[in-house]
Amino acid sequence: MSEQFLIPGGDYSALDSYLKELDRHKILLVCGKHVSTLGIGAYFKDLPKRLPVQVVHFDGFSPNPKYEDIIKGVDLFRREQCDMIAAVGGGSGMDVAKCIKLYNGMDSSRLYLEQEIIANEIPFLAVPTTAGTGSEATRFAVIYYRGEKQSVAHISCIPTAVFFDPQLLATLPDYQKKSTMLDTLCHAVESFWSVNSTKESKALGADAIRKVFAHADGVLKGEADDYSGMFLASNIAGKAINITQTTAGHAMCYKLTSLYGIAHGHAAALCTRELFPHMIAHTADCIDPRGEEYLKETLAQLASAFSCQGPKEAAQKLDRFVTELGMEIPKPKEEDYAILRSSVNPVRLKNHPVRLDEARIDALYHKILSSSR
Ligand SMILES: [Fe+2]
Repeated sequence: MSEQFLIPGGDYSALDSYLKELDRHKILLVCGKHVSTLGIGAYFKDLPKRLPVQVVHFDGFSPNPKYEDIIKGVDLFRREQCDMIAAVGGGSGMDVAKCIKLYNGMDSSRLYLEQEIIANEIPFLAVPTTAGTGSEATRFAVIYYRGEKQSVAHISCIPTAVFFDPQLLATLPDYQKKSTMLDTLCHAVESFWSVNSTKESKALGADAIRKVFAHADGVLKGEADDYSGMFLASNIAGKAINITQTTAGHAMCYKLTSLYGIAHGHAAALCTRELFPHMIAHTADCIDPRGEEYLKETLAQLASAFSCQGPKEAAQKLDRFVTELGMEIPKPKEEDYAILRSSVNPVRLKNHPVRLDEARIDALYHKILSSSR
């Protein structure tokens, strides 16, 4: 696959030039209903006045997109004879657009989920509205079929170009800014220690970690340059998890979100800040085939990405960062722990370099949710 093209952030004339050069005649724009209130919405509305290109809107999907939503999108793409896809949004819009792109060239008389995916060259422009998911850089999408979660993965659904508008971050509430930057940080940290890590993913992870720390303050103060830096950090961390996938932090965080209604990045950070010291203390239980010494070396490299002397100092820095952002800890009921324990996806745990059994997961959840930390 060719490199993803990053259009200069916030530069709408550069976006015009990119589209002009592509020379497509009809774009399927996958977006939420609120897009008309954003600058990027106005951009696409006026686009046909500047370039010989039409824009067909598709907003017929729910936050946890269903297979049927994708079918409607594929049908619209074909009926309107679109030749390009653009997605404006966070995780869901991006996932819908990814699946429309993949399924468009496949047999509509059979269930797409059961067919082999064939790569296609439809241009795909992603305009993320938050700097956190990194979804615009990954080959993964999640949709629901008959109530069951389905993971779709193919290199051909990675957007071919990305446009960030720093001003999109300006309108986010502080809690969303904090949660999304924490999501980016967790992607970077988890990719770094994943059993699937490579030299390339570690370099991307380290770069993203440095960028999050460099731009966090500015994002909260509303500095436009820092918005651009955080978008880039999120994209880079997305590229890292595209290689490695996430680990225990993400496996353990999903139930915290559904049980207590906290944001995804908030939940991931509460988990990752406990997993970090846990790993330092349990390198002997390493399941990374590269061995315990490799894991210790990885934790030392991670510490240096944190600009710290060693792993313990880095774990403390992460803990302090989450605490200083004022991320609250939910108040659990005793019966919650059984629900939390059984919620963890074992596939994600296989990516985690240290063995975690049920007793350890339970102990970790008690620490994560402890009010006396
Ligand atoms: Fe995440």
